[in-house]
Amino acid sequence: MIPIIVIDGPAGTGKGTIAALLAERLGWHLLDSGALYRVLGLAATQQQVPLNDGKKLTQLAESLALQFQDGRVLLDDADVTEAIRAEAIGMAASQVAAHSPVRSALLNWQRQCAQLPGLIADGRDLGTVVFPDAALKIFLDASAEVRANRRYKQLIEKGLSANLLALIADIRERDDRDRHRAVAPLCAAANAVLVDSTTLSISEVFDQVWKEVRRVFPHLIQ
Ligand code: CDP
Repeated sequence: MIPIIVIDGPAGTGKGTIAALLAERLGWHLLDSGALYRVLGLAATQQQVPLNDGKKLTQLAESLALQFQDGRVLLDDADVTEAIRAEAIGMAASQVAAHSPVRSALLNWQRQCAQLPGLIADGRDLGTVVFPDAALKIFLDASAEVRANRRYKQLIEKGLSANLLALIADIRERDDRDRHRAVAPLCAAANAVLVDSTTLSISEVFDQVWKEVRRVFPHLIQ
């Protein structure tokens, strides 16, 4: 049995940061499933594939020359690590992610990431669809305003321009599409532990999650 911890939740809750901290602390593999949808969103934008053309997007997903290497994301050997983080690509990712055949095409890729000694995976449907038998499922949430504020600070720190009101509107639009799509909508698995990070710092969230890790994997942690 390969131990798996999944963290699902909407944009800007700190899932990626917590997942990376856990992977480092435990020495496990890390899957950022959102990066897959983002790369597909970027490839579709570059190749001018309409984001509502499920058939062409599925073909693109099936032939995606994607590699994760030492924390970098490569598409056709080009480094797209920064390019896929653009807000417009997040929005494109959420549109391509709404097509059921596209999601199926990316399912095996994600499941193959489950390797010993263990996997930490974050996204929207990791606990409900991709790894329904994961030993520990966390659902991380926070208010839309706080999440948009965090994104705003991240962009400003990177020297990029940002508009807070536009970010709040974008986050609401993306949440709405992710929560209400017909296939694999964003929702907490029935057996997920809910953590609300609205008023918590990253280290406070980490402490709560770590408590759960110790509870579920007492034999792994001294
Ligand atoms: O980092 P952030 O939370 O903004 O987004 P992300 O995790 O990189 O995901 C980008 C988009 O991909 C989301 O808005 C979802 O629509 C989609 N996604 C998904 O449908 N299923 C996943 N497991 C992960 C991401």
